Parts: sequence; structure tokens; C-alpha cells
Amino acid sequence: MKVIYQIYPLSFKDTNNDGIGDIGGVIEKLPYLKELGVDYIWLTPIYESPMIDNGYDISDYYNISPIFGTNDEFLKLLTEAKKMDMNIIMDLVLNHTSSEHKWFKEAKKSKDNPFRNYYIWSEKPSDITSTFSGNAWTKDELTNEYYFHLFAKEQPDLNWQNEKVRHEMYKMINYYIDSGVKGFRLDVLDLIGKDVKTNKLSNGPYLLEYLEELYETCFKGKDIYTVAEMGIPLEVSKIITEKGYLSSIFQFDHIILDEVKGKGKWALRDLELLELKEVFNNYQSNPSIIPLFWSNHDQPRALGRYLNLDYRYYGQTMLFTLLYLQRGHIYIYQGEEFGMSGLGYQPINVYKDVESINFFNYSKESTEEKLKSLKVKSRDHSRTPMQWDDSLYAGFSNRKPWIIVNPNYQEVNCLKDLNSANSIYYFLKKFIELKKTIKTLSKGSFEMLLWENEDIFAYKRTLDETYIIIANFKDKCVCLDLKLQDYEIVLNNYDTLTSKLNPYQAIVLKIIK
Ligand code: NOJ
Repeated sequence: MKVIYQIYPLSFKDTNNDGIGDIGGVIEKLPYLKELGVDYIWLTPIYESPMIDNGYDISDYYNISPIFGTNDEFLKLLTEAKKMDMNIIMDLVLNHTSSEHKWFKEAKKSKDNPFRNYYIWSEKPSDITSTFSGNAWTKDELTNEYYFHLFAKEQPDLNWQNEKVRHEMYKMINYYIDSGVKGFRLDVLDLIGKDVKTNKLSNGPYLLEYLEELYETCFKGKDIYTVAEMGIPLEVSKIITEKGYLSSIFQFDHIILDEVKGKGKWALRDLELLELKEVFNNYQSNPSIIPLFWSNHDQPRALGRYLNLDYRYYGQTMLFTLLYLQRGHIYIYQGEEFGMSGLGYQPINVYKDVESINFFNYSKESTEEKLKSLKVKSRDHSRTPMQWDDSLYAGFSNRKPWIIVNPNYQEVNCLKDLNSANSIYYFLKKFIELKKTIKTLSKGSFEMLLWENEDIFAYKRTLDETYIIIANFKDKCVCLDLKLQDYEIVLNNYDTLTSKLNPYQAIVLKIIK
């Protein structure tokens, strides 16, 4: 079991006062992360990039973007983290490059350019839509053909069926392994096996073949942790991890439960606890160790998204309890450790994210509806600067940051939590210690309890001992029939425990009888 902390470097800590976070900021905060109990630090992409999709559009895989620092500073980060027994996970974007990458610039020059076949071209566009709205084919005026891009038009998809492309990617990954990188998060990896002609995109016909090749060429026999972003069925995830091609795979079924089924991420509905139980129970049937996460740089912070913000401390600690004592790795997204939440309603000119802006421009819904969807689902809610303290710009920078600071920074900030014994930060820290030291909580079996209860999420972990984890998912008191004399209370986010659970009350009990 590992504790993985995700850093969105643009918004983590700015040390050269240009309003953008940098590698120096990550180095400065290493002791803070160590103190929390972090083992691995996942950095979203820091390579050279025109930043159309905040780094997921790479123009040079071998160089660190000057906005974050230099290659030498990156190596320093690896060394400094290692000294504290922590490792860095780099984000690998293998499905597409930036349109500013030298391969694409060459490929566009002529139909017989040696790099043409690095990308996917067609004389006629099909009707596949891009994840970021609009058609997935864009016309190249010079050669009069269309190139394929599943994300922004500045992110052309690589042609993985071209062996040269695959080998360029493996060479680059091995370069980072040789530099001392010990982990990789692989972006939209399910897409590399696609066949555009037959419209088989995710989980395509070549996926397993390429994953095996990737594993054999880069990861086999090495001490490397991999976690892939893949929107694939659980059964396929099981096959991939059982074969050992990847260490773990993110599952997304739980974070789409507040979407109207089949209508995409912007059509909203309330999350049903019974559905959440079913989804987590399915995940637990996966033999590999599951990445347990609530939010990331794409997924707005869970607190305000699912819960009533009036109960920030209870809500966030309940969310940790509900999720993190399940079988799996603990993933913390920057700022969750002290209860950061989303921005709430904002006018369209506040948004920076390409996906949000494209949605607003392309969608036929009314402006009011679109702003409502953005209020809940825009990726910018999790991308605002880290709220380190209550000083101007929340202690993130001395200069106006690249993105709006959440106006709640005087109320919600890291320093405030560090200075208060009863804070979300200290609850999480205690929690991590528990999962690291009690074998039953990291390695024990998982059994869902109270299946039919619409308010309470409860489960049991068993190995040498038995622990019961109970979380009231509602902002109201809920009755629970417990024979308290049979249990030792290991953790409780309230001071008392009765047969009536308080709003968002969460407890960990050990069976003693
Ligand atoms: C998934 C990444 O998490 C997201 O931020 C990015 O926009 C897309 N992949 C495209 O790379």
C-alpha cells in the first residue's frame, strides 16, 4: 500500500514569482509531504508545451518546460525526494503530442514526409467527436487532408500502429527510468490500441499487444510503479494487471455517478449512495491494488461536489474514511488534506480550461444551463492555487496567479490546519499512520455491509483482526443499531458516539468480542 500525493505543478507553489508554480516550489514543500506520510509524488506533465491543455500537449518530451524550471532542477527534485525516501511519478502522454512537436510540424509539410505516418490522416473526416467538443478531424490546408485528434485540435493523436512511433515512446520512457524516475502515470492509455477506421477507440483491438510490448521494453524486471488512466471495463483491467503489464489502473465509474447516464459529463444529477456502494464493491473484486481517489486535476474536488460545505471538517474526514480504508493505494489530490473546495458559480470569463471553454462555445444548451454545469464539473475547480496561508494570493505566489485564487483562502488554508490539533490535516495524517501500521487495514479482505441502507456506507476489513468502518454520507443525524460494548473505537471524527450518528460522522471500530 502506497500513499500517493498528486501535484498540479502550475498551481502548487511559485518560487520565482511569475504567478505559476514551479519545480522549486515542489522541492521547497518536500518536507511537508514527508511529514504527511507521502511515499510517491505524482506530477502532472512538466515537459515543454504550449500549454493549450496545461501540459498534456507536449512539444518536447526530453525537456522540462522553462515555466517550471530546468532539466537540472528536475534531477535535483528526484535526488532530494529520494533522500527523504519518496519517489516521483511522471505523467506520460503517449496518445498524442502537441501540434508544436517537431514530428507534427514535419508531418504537415507534405504527404510523403517521413513523419507523416507518425499521425493519423484521412481524405475525408468521419463523424467521431473530440472529448473536448467538436469534430475529431481538423483540416490541414496545405495538404488538403484531415488529421485526427481526440482532444484539442492542438493535440494530434499519434499513430501507434506505426512501429517507429512506439519505439520513440519506449526510448523516451527508458530515458526517464535511467534518470531515476520510479513511477509513471499513463495518460488515456486505453486509446493507444485504437482503430480509427472502425471507430474502436477506447480498449481498441491493439491495446493488449501494445501494453505487452511497452511492459517488455520498459518496465519488466524494474522497480517501477505504474498507474494508467484507462476508461475500460473492469474485466479488462483485471486481465492487464494480472498479466503484470501495469501495477494499477484508475477506475472512473464512481466519478460519473453524478452524470445522467449516456449524456456525458455536463448533464448533472445527484449521486445515489446505493450506486456508489455497488461501484466500490466491484472495484474491490479487482486482484490488483486499487488507486483510491476522489478528485484530481480533471475531477472537481469532492467536498462541495457531493456534500454540504457547511460541514467542511466532518464532510472531508468522512470522505477519507469511506474511501481510504478500502483495499488500495491512497491518492491525495493537492489541497484535499486541509479541505479545499471548488470555486462555486463563476461567469464564463473566469474559466481557463480548454475543455470548459469549448463546452461553453459548442453546446446548444442555454447559457444558464451551461454555467450551472460548469459550476459543478469544470476542471478549473481543482486547479486553483494551493491555499498555503491567509496572505495575499494564499501564500502561493507574490504575484497575481495564472488562475483565480479561491476566495475562501482566509477560511480554508494549510497553515490554519497545521495550527489546529483538530483539523482535517491531522485526521488524515493519523489515518495514513493507521493504514500503514495495521496490516488488516492494508491487506485484509473487504466486505460491504448495510447494503440496503441509503444513508450509511459501511464495510468490514478482516485478516488477523476485524475492523468495521462506518460513514454517515448524509448531512443529517442517522440511526444506527450498534452494541458499543463489542467494539473498541479506533477513530471517530466527532468526540462522542451514540446510536445516532451525527451529520457526516465517520468511525473506525475494532471488534473486541
Ligand atoms: C487526461 C488528462 O488527465 C487530462 O487533463 C487531459 O486533458 C487529457 N487526458 C488529454 O491528455
